[in-house]
Amino acid sequence: MKSKNSNLRFLRPEHKFGLVIEPKTHALDSIGTWLTEQNVAQYGMVVVRGFDNYTVEMFRDHVAFIKTVFLDSTDPARTLHPQYSDVQTVTEGESPLNWHAENGIQPLRPDVLSLYRETAGTSGCTLVCDGVELWANLPTKIKNYFAEHRLEYDLTFDVLDLAKAFAIPNAEALDAEMLGAMIAHNIKVFDTDITITNVSARTLSGKWNPSCPTTTEGGTAFCSNVFRGVYLDSFVPKIEGGEPIPKEILAEIESVAQAAAVSVDWKEENCIVINNHRCLHGRTKPGAGRKVYVKFGHTGTTVANFQRNMQALLGAS
Ligand SMILES: [Fe+2]
Repeated sequence: MKSKNSNLRFLRPEHKFGLVIEPKTHALDSIGTWLTEQNVAQYGMVVVRGFDNYTVEMFRDHVAFIKTVFLDSTDPARTLHPQYSDVQTVTEGESPLNWHAENGIQPLRPDVLSLYRETAGTSGCTLVCDGVELWANLPTKIKNYFAEHRLEYDLTFDVLDLAKAFAIPNAEALDAEMLGAMIAHNIKVFDTDITITNVSARTLSGKWNPSCPTTTEGGTAFCSNVFRGVYLDSFVPKIEGGEPIPKEILAEIESVAQAAAVSVDWKEENCIVINNHRCLHGRTKPGAGRKVYVKFGHTGTTVANFQRNMQALLGAS
């Protein structure tokens, strides 16, 4: 990611995208009433900054509407907060990160990504791009390209893990036959458009096509992971059929995203809460001493839908 900080717009309350909560406009004890599922959906991003003693405990309390977190305890890049098992650390890293949605290549993409900055560090900035603005500003030829070519991610996942994470009673009862029935009856468990290619025990292999663009409360958004190397070195976004996305298409998306980017002016004891279906995020090369925690997952609405669909599946067996 290029670091054209001087060209970036800084987030201001008057922008229609983003809600900024600061001492001059909001009281400390009102923050919890603004950090809501509805506001994150409506504004795309909510930033809390400028308050003294805005603690990680407050942050954790205020993002309690994020209901589930997929914690991969084997991932050394995501160790847990020393006190709280639902908050993870963001690996310090030394590299810039190109535009991505958090876990955007997972079958159940988190709805919300929230970040809490404990210490500011010396340099580097967090960037957020409103996918609605990005989509609106893309040339017609690129919009047509994505109308004609769908993205394809080919991954395997364990349905039981997901069911447990969503607190589905009797999740252990899921078996290959039931998963087959789910597919046969076209029960929509996931938000994403999935083509199942293999069912084995409780594991599904599939290809899924995150809608591109997606529709959010703010309009049509481009919020797909199209850049290489954000998660897995070996992961290369492809279009249906296995071809890579042409370099000139990627370069144009990056250029438009850069023009639409907001550099979030956040420091220690600040937080950013991002609508992960609407906004891409990234960072420039981080400086030393930066300490950031993360909590991401699904809202109550998504959890309720998932539970209802899974219960229908289990009840129908
Ligand atoms: Fe990220």
